[in-house]
Amino acid sequence: MIRLFVRPMPLVLLLVFATFIPVMMAAVRVVQVPTGWVPEDSLRLMVAPLSLWLHAFAGLLFGVLGPLQFVRALRARFGALHRLAGRAFVMAGLVMALSGLMLLLQVESIATRLLDVARALFSTGLIVALVLGVRAAMARDRAAHRAWMIRAYAMGMGGATIGLVFFPIYLLRGAPITGLSSDFVFVAWWLVTIALGEWVISGCPPFEGRARLKGDQQ
Ligand code: HEM
Repeated sequence: MIRLFVRPMPLVLLLVFATFIPVMMAAVRVVQVPTGWVPEDSLRLMVAPLSLWLHAFAGLLFGVLGPLQFVRALRARFGALHRLAGRAFVMAGLVMALSGLMLLLQVESIATRLLDVARALFSTGLIVALVLGVRAAMARDRAAHRAWMIRAYAMGMGGATIGLVFFPIYLLRGAPITGLSSDFVFVAWWLVTIALGEWVISGCPPFEGRARLKGDQQ
């Protein structure tokens, strides 16, 4: 069971499952923003339609390309495709982070200061991780490149996958959490996602021996 969980292919499937809803939501917004069919809940974001559209489009690319970039077989067999998709992933991550920062500046926030500050910090962290990941790739330092790209992916997806936590909480309580407790859970989940990324980078101890993960992922 543990072996199944840590082997790269199930890990990629797990990522696809975990990110399916935010990726679909981003895809839907990509169509809705230019056509003006944005649902009432999100209408307030339409004060910055360009930032919102760029954010959704870049989030869609980032969410789709991220898991694919981690598939070892694709990297080994289609190196040129990995490099091309990698460039698109980096561009998408940069645009997503910058447009996320623009949304923070342009749209009146309905979150607490805690979440707004976290969003600003993680966007900046995402930009730094992508730049360091590209620098490591150019220096042919594969271990550092892999580590920074996993960090970037975890930082980018941490906020988008919050539904995985909010939905069970809603089912348990019969009502959504709101205000500071909601934003506290949001930021805590983001940190857990980043910690999970660090765990993958370090080879998923204590299971790495059994799953021969190091060999599988390089
Ligand atoms: C560093 C990572 C990210 C940051 C800092 C960020 C930031 C933001 C901010 C500030 C908003 C406006 C929220 C509001 O005021 O209600 C937003 C909305 C949105 N984000 Fe992100 N985001 C990130 C990652 C992502 C990812 C990975 C995706 C998609 C896979 C995504 C898709 C969206 C979508 C679709 C909306 C619009 C939501 C709606 O219409 O209600 N974001 N994001």
